[in-house]
Amino acid sequence: MKLILLGPPGAGKGTQAKMLTERFDIPQISTGDILRAAVKDRTPMGVKAKSFMDAGGLVPDDVVIGIVRERLQNQDCAAGFILDGFPRTVAQADALKETLHSLGKDLDAVISLEVDTEALVERLTGRRTCRECGQGYHVKFDPPREAGRCDACGGELFQRDDDSEETIRKRLEVYHAQTSPLAAYYRNEDLLLPVDGMQEIGTVQEKILSHLQAA
Ligand code: AP5
Ligand code: MG
Ligand code: ZN
Repeated sequence: MKLILLGPPGAGKGTQAKMLTERFDIPQISTGDILRAAVKDRTPMGVKAKSFMDAGGLVPDDVVIGIVRERLQNQDCAAGFILDGFPRTVAQADALKETLHSLGKDLDAVISLEVDTEALVERLTGRRTCRECGQGYHVKFDPPREAGRCDACGGELFQRDDDSEETIRKRLEVYHAQTSPLAAYYRNEDLLLPVDGMQEIGTVQEKILSHLQAA
């Protein structure tokens, strides 16, 4: 299964991708997670990316295209993959098409998670993530059993630097200007599967699975 998860910040891409990787036993490729790891390790790429991420803007296309091109050649992508947060511009989508073509692979579907803007802000301001294993939570919609601690591994939960209300608004603007045109892009390719992302996490997952079976 070769999938893209498309949707605005806070739509639930990471949450749904984690569930889909278990279901299909294929990797989640989150450019956001890869970039955050590079920032944390202070690699040259991380140093370059940090200012764009802190400002809620996009990291330059050549950087993220390079990451994904390399990642897709990894053996663990042989049976499929879930792209989470890539592509985000038409240039990235074109580059992905070329890369997949050269690897002899075709996308199965682009799942578009649709969520109202005000719900996105509430989801992102309440998001918490495990520092150890990356498991995501929400203080209201998906709380851990013990506040501030990961159910899965006991790790400490933290709030992302870019989840302040001001940066969230900026990320949403950038999404509407640069990424939302990709819905039409993939509709034209007959790959777009719109899913109502305003329902509970488990219901959204069921909807995605039933769409994939029907596709
Ligand atoms: P990235 O990490 O990809 O952030 P994003 O796109 O802004 O998306 P998020 O991770 O914030 O949201 P999500 O959709 O994964 O939601 P989640 O499942 O966590 O990118 C960060 C930055 O990196 C970018 O701003 C950019 O600078 C850079 N970058 C990354 N990729 C790039 C690219 N390709 N090109 C250029 N730059 C790039 O859910 C959110 C919260 O809601 C959680 O708390 C969750 O528990 C809760 N939740 C989830 N689903 C539901 C539901 N159905 N009901 C209620 N709550 C829910
Ligand atoms: Mg995410
Ligand atoms: Zn954990």
